[in-house]
Amino acid sequence: MFKIILLGFSLLFFAGCQEKHHSDLDGKKLLEQKCSKCHNLDLPPKTFVDEKAPPMMAVAFHIHDFIKASSESDKIPKAIEFVKDYVVNPSASKSFCDKASLKSYGVMPSQKGKVTQDELQAIAEYMFAHYTVKNMNDAQNLQNRLNKMPAGERIALQHNCFSCHKMNKDLVGPSFKKIATRNKSDLSTIESSIKNGSSKKYKHSRGAIMPAFGKKLSDKEIKTVAKWIYESNKK
Ligand code: HEC
Ligand code: HEC
Repeated sequence: MFKIILLGFSLLFFAGCQEKHHSDLDGKKLLEQKCSKCHNLDLPPKTFVDEKAPPMMAVAFHIHDFIKASSESDKIPKAIEFVKDYVVNPSASKSFCDKASLKSYGVMPSQKGKVTQDELQAIAEYMFAHYTVKNMNDAQNLQNRLNKMPAGERIALQHNCFSCHKMNKDLVGPSFKKIATRNKSDLSTIESSIKNGSSKKYKHSRGAIMPAFGKKLSDKEIKTVAKWIYESNKK
């Protein structure tokens, strides 16, 4: 079902997203609370053989693709209305799922009494703002980048080390190359500074300190990122 949805999907999608009656409720949180039991919420989604329902990205793409509207800007409000109705009054005839998928999933059980119309407004607004082709591509690109990175660099990226350190240039903290040079034959100092923090070693940092990461990173992660910094001189 998935591929067809993606192919049929129009790139103009994002145009009508800023809605007038914008809900103040947290659509993301509500979606997690009320819908994740059956729908996988990841972007791009994980699919399982025995999944209970189509991934939420597929649902959002799907509805957006099949809803009829005179213009893109009419589409999102209509798509939101569809979700608000479908979740409490689902039926095989309303569903945009193809027959085979519908048969294998079964019609969605009505969520009447479990979610209010206001909550559904927020959920649906979030759905059509979050599950977009652009966001999916961005997420996919980031994932591809992460997959290709050495594990140490991935840890540094995921823990925001680059907000203070660059590879070749001093920032708030010294460059990773400078750190590698200073600790040329001392991997364990690099490890213990990441774990416990460090201060006053580098002149240019002018009193800025290296925060301790011992509570945020596992010992294994510390070893991995330390080794990556240690070897950065040789690259
Ligand atoms: C108990 C499991 C379950 C829960 C909880 C659930 N769903 Fe569903 N949902 C399904 C199944 C199964 C389908 C596919 C069959 C169908 O279209 O009815 C589906 C389909 C849908 C569709 C129609 C998709 C289409 O292509 O026509 C929408 C919209 C939807 N779900 C939204 C939601 C939202 C929003 C929530 C949270 C408020 C939610 N669902 C919670 C099981 C669930
Ligand atoms: C808030 C800014 C900041 C962040 C975030 C930060 N650092 Fe630092 N780091 C510094 C500063 C400043 C120094 C220099 C401290 C000094 O002068 O001793 C430093 C020094 C270091 C050193 C050298 C210590 C030594 O003994 O030579 C290492 C290794 C290091 N950082 C690794 C990391 C890693 C890995 C991360 C991410 C997990 C990270 N840093 C995140 C600011 C930061």
